[in-house]
Amino acid sequence: MAGSFSAHVRRVTVALFVLQLALLPMMAIASDADPEQDFCVADPNNPTIVNGLVCKNPALVNGTDFKSTVLATPGNTNNSLGSMVTAAAAGKFPGINTLGISMARLDFAKGGLVPPHTHPRATEIIFVVEGSLFVGFVSTDGTLFATTLQKGDVFVFPRGLLHFELNVCDGTATAIAALNSQNPGTQIQAVALFNSGIGEVVLEKAFGLGEKAVQKIEYAVEAANKKP
Ligand SMILES: *[C@@H]1O[C@H](CO)[C@@H](O)[C@H](O)[C@H]1NC(C)=O
Ligand SMILES: *[C@@H]1O[C@H](CO)[C@@H](O)[C@H](O)[C@H]1NC(C)=O
Repeated sequence: MAGSFSAHVRRVTVALFVLQLALLPMMAIASDADPEQDFCVADPNNPTIVNGLVCKNPALVNGTDFKSTVLATPGNTNNSLGSMVTAAAAGKFPGINTLGISMARLDFAKGGLVPPHTHPRATEIIFVVEGSLFVGFVSTDGTLFATTLQKGDVFVFPRGLLHFELNVCDGTATAIAALNSQNPGTQIQAVALFNSGIGEVVLEKAFGLGEKAVQKIEYAVEAANKKP
């Protein structure tokens, strides 16, 4: 009896170990690759294309390389969506290259919307600095998880899931976002579908719409997402 119990424990232990091994690759791709040095301030003048940006000579790096002022100015929200997202990602903030992190500020005019979009490489967490936002994301099984945030609230959008932010207060609103990728990437679904030249045949079939209806949406999406 005792022998068969310890054999059972061994089998369970082996099964857990195998499961852990199977999950290892997923853990490894859960965020940006690990850095292989203390820092790798991006060299904007190096044309080499690698997975990330090429480091500038560490001997030429000083404190100012780790500072950025790109989030200091509110974004211009005078556009049809009434919103502007300003990103401090590696392209504009060389100091965060290889560090697996970035920030953004979201500015909203009254009624402003950051339209449904995804970040393929990052989970995003936002902090409401001013105003009130209705926010949500849609899981891969099509379930909406949405709520209203007030000043001081924090909300998280899991990596890669479709999400949006809508200003629901009487004035302007501002939020600060942190993302666990130096280059989260942004795909606005309306633009990716209706302003990419994907082909009306594809869209007519995908949405069960006629040619006229698809063209109408294409014009509307182009107008809504035009930045001055
Ligand atoms: C850092 O280096 C830059 C040139 O790369 C220089 O313009 C700047 O003055 C330096 N800052 C400090 C604090 O030494
Ligand atoms: C907003 O933009 C429009 C043109 O796109 C311009 O006519 C208007 O003056 C702008 N308003 C402000 C407050 O900048």
